[in-house]
Amino acid sequence: MIKRLGTTKKFKPTVVQCKALELVKGGGKHILLFGGSRSGKTTVLVMAVIFRALKFRESRHLICRLRARDARTSVLQETLLMWLDNTVGQDGYTFRSHDCFIRLGNKSEIWIGGLGDREQADKILGHEYNTIYFNEISQLSYAAVTTAYSRLAKNTPGCRNLFLYDCNPGSPLHWAYKVFIKKQAFPSEAALMKPELYASMMLNPEDNKSNLPGDYISDILDALPEKQRARFRDGLWIKAEGAIYDKFEECMVLSADLLPGSFDRFAAGQDFGLNITNVKIGIKDNCIYILEDYGSYNMTTKSFNEELLQRDWFRWNGTDVDFSVYCDPAGGERIQEITNGVKANNSVDAGIDYIVAKMERKQFFVSAKCSGVLSEIWDYSRDEDGEINKVNDHFLDAMRYAIFTDTQQGVIVS
Ligand SMILES: Nc1ncnc2c1ncn2[C@@H]1O[C@H](COP(=O)(O)OP(=O)(O)OP(=O)(O)O)[C@@H](O)[C@H]1O
Ligand SMILES: [Mg+2]
Repeated sequence: MIKRLGTTKKFKPTVVQCKALELVKGGGKHILLFGGSRSGKTTVLVMAVIFRALKFRESRHLICRLRARDARTSVLQETLLMWLDNTVGQDGYTFRSHDCFIRLGNKSEIWIGGLGDREQADKILGHEYNTIYFNEISQLSYAAVTTAYSRLAKNTPGCRNLFLYDCNPGSPLHWAYKVFIKKQAFPSEAALMKPELYASMMLNPEDNKSNLPGDYISDILDALPEKQRARFRDGLWIKAEGAIYDKFEECMVLSADLLPGSFDRFAAGQDFGLNITNVKIGIKDNCIYILEDYGSYNMTTKSFNEELLQRDWFRWNGTDVDFSVYCDPAGGERIQEITNGVKANNSVDAGIDYIVAKMERKQFFVSAKCSGVLSEIWDYSRDEDGEINKVNDHFLDAMRYAIFTDTQQGVIVS
């Protein structure tokens, strides 16, 4: 049941929000707003969606984030409904709670959903849109985002279709940093073909001071530990505080020519789900090398396995290599669809401790081409209760299955 907040705030964009609206109206196709907490990012992008829906009759727009329930609370309830009430009024739209979309008087629709839930993803990706707004992309895989790209295909007269994005900045290895700030394609890191289509802007809480409680910046954000303050107050892309793999350092990322020419043995890890991933490792002289990773979104296990074989997963330096693929034990029958698939050891804490110890001993390296692992490694963290944040962990789970199951096998080097 959606509870109405019943406020009657008037939307008066801040100076920086005005600039953000100009950016949305500019020539870019992909617009990212990033920055510290409560800086007005979501509000201004939701307003841009409302304006577009009102302006273009019978247009359709999607606002999505990882989890549907978060989309319902933080986007729908706290932002979209409130601003609709204050813009067109409660009689100006209807809310279809079951499908979670809004219909305006001009027959335009605004859909809200989660890309991380299979049923939801199929439902929302079954339509065509004029705007797709990815909310809090620090939690979304690039594979999920690019899968949704094909749905920006609704033809509405006069309307230039747009992708909008927002986030609190993650680590500089996150795909959003590569694409929007470094203007590199992900995962190849080649220069973007059309960089002018990607625009971004930083919004910080200071810019939204007039809409925040008087003590929010001085008493809450200023008092945060250094790294969190840099991220949540100053909007900087840095390693997270409390990152599980904070012992991982940039010097452990190796270009292809620095990898050993041969290995004592290989292994791989396989994670299942909407985000399906595989990570291949090599072991030499007690050192672990993360060699290759591959991930996709909403793909069957069979097709995914075919793709791995297509990518010569069982070859290294021109030679066939044979190794086990340690799969998420919850994968059930899907394990049989993976070549050399066997159940992995899924001891999460023991596995993480082992990997951290390897990092501390400088016995852990990642090939620079493993952009999936690298995009997650510094953002992998625990919440206040010590529980692992189950977002953006698809490659890291696969990596842990490979490393920890391999070490538990007590494999004798042949
Ligand atoms: N122009 C505005 N007029 C009135 N209130 C606003 C305006 N812009 C933002 N706010 C209010 O400021 C607060 C933070 O805004 P918003 O949620 O958009 O920020 P955010 O940057 O998306 O935050 P987060 O980092 O938590 O996702 C909200 O209470 C919102 O209602
Ligand atoms: Mg927000």
